[in-house]
Amino acid sequence: MQDPAALPQGWHWGGSAQLPLQVPPDVYLPAEDSLLLSAVLTTLPLPAVGPIVEVGCGAGLQALTLAARGASVVATDTNPAAVRCLQRNALRLGLSDRIHVVRCDLLSALAEPAGLIVCNPPYLPSEPQEQKDPLSRAWDGGVDGGTQVRRLLAELDRGLRPQGRLVLLLSSLTGIDLAAELPQRTVRVLAREPHFFERLTVYEVA
Ligand SMILES: C[S@@+](CC[C@H](N)C(=O)[O-])C[C@H]1O[C@@H](n2cnc3c(N)ncnc32)[C@H](O)[C@@H]1O
Repeated sequence: MQDPAALPQGWHWGGSAQLPLQVPPDVYLPAEDSLLLSAVLTTLPLPAVGPIVEVGCGAGLQALTLAARGASVVATDTNPAAVRCLQRNALRLGLSDRIHVVRCDLLSALAEPAGLIVCNPPYLPSEPQEQKDPLSRAWDGGVDGGTQVRRLLAELDRGLRPQGRLVLLLSSLTGIDLAAELPQRTVRVLAREPHFFERLTVYEVA
């Protein structure tokens, strides 16, 4: 049990027993989706060439899971609080030399195509809103839940090496059929978990 007194006011402990994370109120608190994806990443074969990139790092559970295995990871997020949060947790956990965090949209700051891209995107359908605060951007995937996912899929030919892979978590509530969106690629299921109102699936796209 992590000591709540060790945290600034309004912050929570999140993450896993192996990687306890300090999470401020304006950053996505790792949930069932985060834990399912990070469980897959503990055994996923890592690429021999090309950077490993996490898109939408939030508090950093996925990037830190890979770094704890010895990988170097470039992590991106549009939320500046998430960038600071991952930097803080990487330092606390002694993994900061393997994590480079960038505030940017999707893959836009990436200097070269990746060997592996990992993403737990905003995937829930939502009503259109005028203003979106940084925290709602963590889950709000637009009208059918697939707005940010489709933007990421459109970047794959440029953002992935020829043998590169995307490992992506989606909900059964997300209005996306990956195989139909990417007929030229191979899509397979790495893990699936039923929950009260949705089913979470981790896909590999090669
Ligand atoms: C569901 S949260 C996942 C956080 C973390 N990866 C995890 O597994 O717990 C989605 C994250 O994507 C970030 N995000 C949303 N749109 C983005 C974009 N266009 N580019 C980069 N990050 C984005 C959000 O700020 C949020 O931190």
